[in-house]
Amino acid sequence: MTTNENTRTLGSTGPSVFPLGLGCMGMSALYGEADRTESLATIHAYLDAVPDSASALLDTGDFYGMGHNEMLIGEALRTAPAAAREQALISVKFGALRTVEGGFTGYDGRPEAVKNFLAYSLQRLGRDHIDVYRIARVDPSVPIEETVGAIAEAVEAGHVRHIGLSEVGADTLRRAAAVAPISDLQIEYSLISRGIEAEILPTARELGIGITAYGVLSRGLISGHFSRDRELAPGDFRGMSPRFQGENLQRNLDLVDALRKIAQDKGVSVAQTAIAWVLSRGEDIVPLVGARRRDRLAEALGAMAVELTEADLAAIEEAVPAGAAAGERYPAAQMAHLDSEH
Ligand SMILES: NC(=O)c1ccc[n+]([C@@H]2O[C@H](COP(=O)([O-])OP(=O)(O)OC[C@H]3O[C@@H](n4cnc5c(N)ncnc54)[C@H](OP(=O)(O)O)[C@@H]3O)[C@@H](O)[C@H]2O)c1
Repeated sequence: MTTNENTRTLGSTGPSVFPLGLGCMGMSALYGEADRTESLATIHAYLDAVPDSASALLDTGDFYGMGHNEMLIGEALRTAPAAAREQALISVKFGALRTVEGGFTGYDGRPEAVKNFLAYSLQRLGRDHIDVYRIARVDPSVPIEETVGAIAEAVEAGHVRHIGLSEVGADTLRRAAAVAPISDLQIEYSLISRGIEAEILPTARELGIGITAYGVLSRGLISGHFSRDRELAPGDFRGMSPRFQGENLQRNLDLVDALRKIAQDKGVSVAQTAIAWVLSRGEDIVPLVGARRRDRLAEALGAMAVELTEADLAAIEEAVPAGAAAGERYPAAQMAHLDSEH
């Protein structure tokens, strides 16, 4: 489905985008304080790196910093050259309910809520449409048909271009695709999170739905830059994530050491190897990298030039076999919200 090496297409109905998207979440939430000036510079550097012939994919959620992330992207676009602004496609997740203190209290996928979330997002972003719109987690009290149906109405009205999904399983993919065309499923996929390979990825392929893969560095765990003695700020997701705790962390960092040997032999970094591996899984997969700084972004972009041979892929498979990760990818309470894990 590639049109050229600078683009990948999101499913059979979605837009063509640069093969690496920029996930902006960490600029507002979940990984400790982010530097605002550096965040804006990172978004600008990403827009600058995307060739004129491709669209730049920026991913956000209205609940990342309770609107902060959308306002940040809005500012980055306002202060970018006009051509870069035109090139940008924005993917927004909605539905998470928050508290002033930052807690998460559930999800709202009712049609009237969808339209309310959308109205606010358009204002914060300073745009008249959103390129891909999706609920972050299925609202268990609202059939997915109703939530997707409401987005389909927003498509009709011109406020949204494409409908996406996030962290859903194969059955929900089918139900949603029966209502309206779905461009892509956003879901965690990395060397140490390979759960989608059994059923979800084949179903997405059968339905012509692309994948925007997040957590390709497992939130920094397999980036090669994470160490046991890293101090995490209060509220950092990684302080609660099972994969970053005690024994589990040590076992996971041992996997990273095995990967590091392969990366060193190729003269590339661990992060580049991990991102290149996701890129190698298919032309229908667009990794979202969560760079918050220009140096990290430059490293991530370098992954596009990394060619993994059959021998490299076999060595990687041996170093980090499927299912080798220690610990679940979310704490138990958050795992319960994942339709993709049921
Ligand atoms: N749909 C969903 O449920 C969902 C869930 C989570 C995220 N997402 C989306 O996916 C995006 C990416 O997710 P993520 O941030 O968790 O993924 P990630 O790319 O696996 O992790 C990003 C973290 O890795 C570290 N890192 C180290 N080297 C890096 C490099 N060269 N490039 C980029 N990061 C590097 C950074 O941490 P330090 O800066 O601390 O070193 C960064 O904060 C998010 O921004 C968000 O848009 C979606």
